[in-house]
Amino acid sequence: MEKQTILTGIRPTGHLHLGHYFGAGKNWVKLQDQFETYIEIADVQALTDNFNNPDKVRRSVRDLVIDLLSIGIDPNKATMFIQSTIPEIAELTVFYSNLVTIARLERNPTVKTEIKQKKELFGESGEGITYGFLGYPVSQAADITAFKGNLVPVGEDQLPLLEQCREIVRKFNHIYGETLIEPEAYLSDIPRIKGLDGNEKMGKSLGNAIFLADEPDVVTKKIMGAVTDPNKIKIDDKANPDICMVYYYHKLIGNKNLKTVCSECQAGKRGCVACKKELVTEMLEFLRPIAEKRKYYEANPDEVEKILKEGSKKAKKVAEETAKEVKTSMKINYFD
Ligand code: TRP
Ligand code: SF4
Repeated sequence: MEKQTILTGIRPTGHLHLGHYFGAGKNWVKLQDQFETYIEIADVQALTDNFNNPDKVRRSVRDLVIDLLSIGIDPNKATMFIQSTIPEIAELTVFYSNLVTIARLERNPTVKTEIKQKKELFGESGEGITYGFLGYPVSQAADITAFKGNLVPVGEDQLPLLEQCREIVRKFNHIYGETLIEPEAYLSDIPRIKGLDGNEKMGKSLGNAIFLADEPDVVTKKIMGAVTDPNKIKIDDKANPDICMVYYYHKLIGNKNLKTVCSECQAGKRGCVACKKELVTEMLEFLRPIAEKRKYYEANPDEVEKILKEGSKKAKKVAEETAKEVKTSMKINYFD
């Protein structure tokens, strides 16, 4: 049987943090051994809400690829490519945009949440919702279908985007004839990663993230400021590790000493400062191999450039093929 194709994407808006790693990246590293894997650096999508900040997106493309390589994405197994280098995606987006109503896009739960967040950040009178932003699920459907992806590894919060894609595919195939592959979600059982402040989500804009590229002194500072059991004041106060973010990260990164951390904390035999220091040591140990790989790629930018160029070239071939099939089905293949 032919290998199934995984298509996933990520917006270049900064470095990867632990939430990205445990919530997605680690899974991708595993999947690249089993599937034909495409990882899209979604710069066009990043521009939908960073259109006034092209420098940030540009810089983040390189940062992100180096992050991905550093966590173990192997360019010989997975194809990493830049969305904007493949104009066929934009072309498909235009064709698909006829198959989606504005009302349907506005009802998309992921889009709805993002609009709400935007209003909270910038106020009702803020930037406003652009046509491009509202349409990004259509563009994401183009991403997925262009590479004939049958599986998309998504978290719960991205499921509505996949459902939107499936609807577009069904409608396209119904009107123009069987052409596109309807993708399925490949749900990971990995939960959302909490932030240093105890927030349910680790996020760049929430200021509660540890980035894979953070320098040791930054990691130390962040961990020393992490939220612990608020009822523990003195060293010998008994505490509840389950409401402590320090314990949460000890567990997340697999501290072998976890049972001791837990029992000492509950028994009032462990001070929070010492506990945090232990986490700093463990965290730096966890980040070290990633940091070492980063150093290598930062010293060899030509290699990174070559990986991106070759990945984009390979991806473009597949997207060209799909675009051709789509145009034939739509009867706009004039000069064939
Ligand atoms: N929407 C994803 C994000 O916000 C990125 C993305 C772009 C994506 N295209 C995709 C994810 C295709 C899965 C499939 O990070
Ligand atoms: Fe958290 Fe450790 Fe303090 Fe317990 S001892 S509350 S686990 S930091």
